[in-house]
Amino acid sequence: MTPQLIKFKNDGLLLEDEKSSDPKKISMTDKQTITMIAAAAQNNELGKNNNLIWHISEDLKRFKRLTSGHPIIMGRKTFESMPKALPNRTNIVLTTKKDYKPVGAIVVNNINDALSLVKDDQQPFIIGGGEIYRLFMDHCSRIELTRVHHNFEADVFFPEIDLTKWSLIAQEDFTSTKDQPYNYSYLTYDKI
Ligand SMILES: NC(=O)c1ccc[n+]([C@@H]2O[C@H](COP(=O)([O-])OP(=O)(O)OC[C@H]3O[C@@H](n4cnc5c(N)ncnc54)[C@H](OP(=O)(O)O)[C@@H]3O)[C@@H](O)[C@H]2O)c1
Repeated sequence: MTPQLIKFKNDGLLLEDEKSSDPKKISMTDKQTITMIAAAAQNNELGKNNNLIWHISEDLKRFKRLTSGHPIIMGRKTFESMPKALPNRTNIVLTTKKDYKPVGAIVVNNINDALSLVKDDQQPFIIGGGEIYRLFMDHCSRIELTRVHHNFEADVFFPEIDLTKWSLIAQEDFTSTKDQPYNYSYLTYDKI
């Protein structure tokens, strides 16, 4: 899998050996960077039947690399779509249920409690799904979006990114391989 293009609008072009999709290397200030991380297809497709639709192992590895060591906030449906809580990350689950007691996760019933739990981390991640991305859109300052260049049947969608509010600061493109049939791009947006 060969990166075809790496563009950093703010920081200039990176040299080959400096390539990294780690947003900490793009630009991190002392200010907290609440980051939504998602993989969405051409029409913003995210999932179907409470499951992911495609499997891009490099993207899953990147998700692990970026989120490890940070708290991750997700909706109850996304939590239940996973076999278990994700290791090396504080799993925070949003639900309206008052008696929900999942193994390995902290439960919150509203967005303010979720935000207050992560206030001391420099880069907490919002990991989905569709309802939770919508809920946090105005509270985040970065979006790490893997755009899969294909159309799929889906029942959950990523919200439209309003380009009057968000600026694309980095892009890395990958072509399909024999193990992985889709072209995809890592797109980093920062709130303007
Ligand atoms: N492609 C990707 O990057 C990606 C990432 C994550 C998930 N997904 C996919 O997305 C799908 C799941 O997304 P979804 O939109 O159906 O569900 P979701 O966002 O994961 O969870 C929705 C649930 O969150 C809780 N919730 C929402 N707003 C809340 C609020 N204001 N206060 C308290 N609780 C709140 C509710 O739980 P209760 O019903 O318990 O009250 C609601 O049913 C799956 O297909 C999954 O595979 C894809």
